[in-house]
Amino acid sequence: MYRESSCAAPARSAEVALIGLSPAIRELRDKIDRIASNQSPVLILGETGTGKEVVARKVHERSGLKKFVPIDCSVLVGPLMESELFGYMRGAFTGADTNRTGLLEEAHLGTAFFDEIGELPLSLQAKLLRVLQEKEFRPVGSTVSRYVESRVVAATNRNLSEEVRRGRFRQDLFFRLNVITLRIPPLRERREDIPVLAAYFLDKHAGGLRFSPPVEEALLRYDWPGNVRELENTIHRMSAVSTGRDLGIQDLPSSVLHTVFPPRHEAAMLSSASSPDLAPESRNEGIMPLAEVERHAILNALSVTRGDRTTAAQLLGIGRTTLYRKLKSYGVGDAV
Ligand SMILES: Nc1ncnc2c1ncn2[C@@H]1O[C@H](COP(=O)(O)OP(=O)(O)OP(=O)(O)O)[C@@H](O)[C@H]1O
Ligand SMILES: [Mg+2]
Repeated sequence: MYRESSCAAPARSAEVALIGLSPAIRELRDKIDRIASNQSPVLILGETGTGKEVVARKVHERSGLKKFVPIDCSVLVGPLMESELFGYMRGAFTGADTNRTGLLEEAHLGTAFFDEIGELPLSLQAKLLRVLQEKEFRPVGSTVSRYVESRVVAATNRNLSEEVRRGRFRQDLFFRLNVITLRIPPLRERREDIPVLAAYFLDKHAGGLRFSPPVEEALLRYDWPGNVRELENTIHRMSAVSTGRDLGIQDLPSSVLHTVFPPRHEAAMLSSASSPDLAPESRNEGIMPLAEVERHAILNALSVTRGDRTTAAQLLGIGRTTLYRKLKSYGVGDAV
């Protein structure tokens, strides 16, 4: 399942890798191709880490425009925000000892990527709207307007209609930006993409390493609240600390491991408090002999792994031979 496919293969260095086999990603790639040469604004929506910037770069790549200029709206705050965006003339304010080109002008004949557009302060939203309508702006301290022509691509993980309703985002700007909408579903809603993305990231960060089958299963079953970014970071970290050729479940971060294979030891121990093979006094005090705790831990691990002894041993942090020896001593050597 994690074998290379044409989509998992690393893209040519110049090409933006928008990896995925799910219908949602296939449709997204098709839509990007269809709208590439269109000059209308594009609004990219998706949870954090779903690949909004990757999609923005793909739109730019397909459009054949000159330059891709990322404009991080979450940092456009404070007194310098306007000059960052529009540039300024020498002497416009204290410290402005040369003319400076703003981000908008840099994006002339290219793509202006307004990242985190939902964070743009209302005062700048009004100014941006004017630029989008008039294709003109004035650098701070200038009396002359400049013409700018760029493809506007914006992205946000916020619900912009809701922001409009709450008066935090201008409705007119929202309508202006929301001409072509590209939605990227969260990774948990397109699990088919996990294997192909995981293979891609493993190759990128640790060529030569492989996932063991339980790791493949864990990656597939985990919900990835941080989406593709969390998947990539997890694989990067796992490959950095792994010592073998195979990434085993012991290499998984505990967040993933415990969500996918929940530690049911406590539950097993609690339920066994009423087990008939325990002495009544230990039942009363909720204390079990250590050997009994161990036996329950081992049987629980085998039930979680559905009898897979190698994985159970890994989960328990003991060797396979030790596991076999212990099972034999419980008289369940061949029974599980
Ligand atoms: N479909 C994909 N193919 C290949 N890499 C991807 C894909 N989606 C996301 N990534 C990778 O995941 C990471 C996060 O992607 P990106 O920065 O585009 O997400 P984002 O939606 O902009 O996140 P945020 O909301 O946090 O800004 C990046 O390293 C990116 O290369
Ligand atoms: Mg981003």
